Amino acid sequence: MTLNSRILSLLNIEIPIIVAPMYMVSNEAMIVEACLSGATGAIPAMNWPTPELMRKGIQNIKKQTDSPFGINIISHASNPKLKEQLDVCIEEKVAFIITSLGNPEMVINHCKPHGIKVFCDVVDTRFAQRLEKAGADAIIAVSKFAGGHAGNLTHEELIPALKKLVTIPIIAAGNITNPQAIEKLFALGAEGASVGTIFIATNESPVSEQYKQALVDYTSSDIVMTDKLSGTPCAVINTPYVQKIGTQQNWLERWLNKHKPLKRMLKQYAYKRGMRLLKRAAFSATYETVWCAGHSIDAIHEIIPVKQRITMLVGELKFNRL
Ligand SMILES: Cc1cc2nc3c(=O)[nH]c(=O)nc-3n(C[C@H](O)[C@H](O)[C@H](O)COP(=O)(O)O)c2cc1C
Repeated sequence: MTLNSRILSLLNIEIPIIVAPMYMVSNEAMIVEACLSGATGAIPAMNWPTPELMRKGIQNIKKQTDSPFGINIISHASNPKLKEQLDVCIEEKVAFIITSLGNPEMVINHCKPHGIKVFCDVVDTRFAQRLEKAGADAIIAVSKFAGGHAGNLTHEELIPALKKLVTIPIIAAGNITNPQAIEKLFALGAEGASVGTIFIATNESPVSEQYKQALVDYTSSDIVMTDKLSGTPCAVINTPYVQKIGTQQNWLERWLNKHKPLKRMLKQYAYKRGMRLLKRAAFSATYETVWCAGHSIDAIHEIIPVKQRITMLVGELKFNRL
C-alpha cells in the first residue's frame, strides 16, 4: 500500500512519522535514530536545562545526521525562556517547531521568515482556521487516547472535521502503533503520524528501567487522566502513588482557578510543580511514580531499539511525496 503525504516534501524525509516530543523522555539519541531510519523526531526545548545546552544538543544531533528534526516549544506564560529558545532554533536552523499549550502565533511570526516550519498541536477544531491563516505549516491532531495532554475526540471525529476547515496537512497523534492504524488515518485525511508512548520503552530512551518495565506490565485499562500535573488533563499510569494523590485538583486549587489574577500565578506554580514531579519519577526509583503514557501502552511488550519500533510501526507501507 502506498500512501501520499505532503509532509515528506515539506520536511524532505522518507517516512512521515515524527517521534513525538516528550517531556523528560525525548533525547538526542532517539532523534538521531529516528532520522537515520528515514523518519524524524522532535525534542521539547525544556528537556535541556538552559538554551545554551539546547544549542549544544542540537549541534550534537547535527553531527550525527543531516536529516531534519524539530524542537517542541511551549508557547504559554509558564515558559520564561520562550524567546531565547526561539533564538537558538533560528540560529541553529532547526527544520521545524511543534507548538503546544498556548497561542502559537508569536512562534509562527518569529520562525516563518527564517524558513522554519511550524506545526501546531490541536485537540479540537476551535483554532484550526486561525492557525492556517496565521501561517502554520501543518496541524497535529491530538486525539482522545494519546499520551501526555490528550484531547476528547477520536481520530474519526477529529481528522475529517479538521479536513473540512483547513488545507494544510494534518498529522495524527494518539494511540498509533501499527501499519493498519496508519493506513486508516491516511484514509481519514491524515498525512503523517506523531507517535510518543511506544518510544518511551526503547533502548535509547533515558528513563528509568522501572518506568520502561511499567509500560510492559500495565495496560490501557490502567491509564487515567489527571489535572494534578499542569492543570491541563494529562494521561498517566494509575500507579499506587497516583491513586494516593488523586487525579483531580483539590478545593484550594479549584477555588484559586476561579479568581482570574490568581489563576495565572497558580497555573505557573502548578505547572512547575507538576513538571518537577514528572522529572523525579522518570529517572529515579522513587515511590512517587507519576509516569505519563497513553493507550498505546497495549502495544508495548518489550524494550527494543527506536529503529526496530519504527520498522514495526510502518511495516510494508510505502510513502509517496506530494
Ligand atoms: C511521557 C510523555 C511526555 C510528553 N511530553 C510532551 C511535551 O513535552 N510536549 C508536547 O507537545 N507533547 C508531549 N507529549 C505528547 C506527545 O508529543 C504526543 O502528542 C503523544 O505522545 C502522542 O500520543 P501517543 O503517546 O499515544 O503516541 C508527551 C507524551 C508523553 C507520553
